[in-house]
Amino acid sequence: MSNESSTETTVQRSGPLTFAVPKGRLHDDVRALFAERNMPFEFENRKLVTDDQTGSVRFMLVKNSDLPVYVHHGIAGLGVCGDDVLYESGFDFVRLLTFPFGGTRMCLAARRDHDPSRDRGRLTVATKFTRFARDFFHNRGIPVEVIKLGGSVELAPVLGLAPYIVDLVETGSTLVANDLAVTEELTQISVHLIANPAYYKFHYAAVNRLVDTLREERTNHPTSPRSET
Ligand code: PRP
Repeated sequence: MSNESSTETTVQRSGPLTFAVPKGRLHDDVRALFAERNMPFEFENRKLVTDDQTGSVRFMLVKNSDLPVYVHHGIAGLGVCGDDVLYESGFDFVRLLTFPFGGTRMCLAARRDHDPSRDRGRLTVATKFTRFARDFFHNRGIPVEVIKLGGSVELAPVLGLAPYIVDLVETGSTLVANDLAVTEELTQISVHLIANPAYYKFHYAAVNRLVDTLREERTNHPTSPRSET
């Protein structure tokens, strides 16, 4: 028996693949993708765990920022996560696919009337992405004070907590609505299918089949290697 077929047997015995689905801005895109591939799923009546109709994948609904924790600990073997949240987690994962949806930008922003020539000493930024912000400015040799917030980061310059924010900008409408503007785009953010490395090794045949299914009809992806990292 080949390695692959013995792994298949193991996967069949060990049940469906486990897959963490983020709440928030990526949720509808992930559900739409699985529905398109004839693997629809729905979290009904506030249930947080559900199987797809084929019974081959068990989905777990988790908060976006908690998703890497579940995959790192192997509770979910797979998940969908953006570079922003992956970087903050500090964990290592296998990146199996980059999705065409969910792309956004991590930006430095300030009040539209902010005068950068008045900046003195350290840069003060408010952000949810503290690890990214510290590393980004340290790598540039720019002293930075990072103030951690949990959300609605755009309030910080409006209320005077910090002159700058580091935050995701998608449509830009939140910035505009609060009289803020992008000072600089710091990096592009993509959304990936990630795997716990040990889980991928153990379930690679079933995982690769799922990757092929999710990849169908997409033309802008490499056919190999399977893993992006
Ligand atoms: C994100 C991000 C910005 C906003 C950007 O926040 O942190 O606040 O979306 O989107 P836009 O450019 O399309 O306006 P999210 O809605 O996730 O909620 P949060 O404020 O709780 O972080």
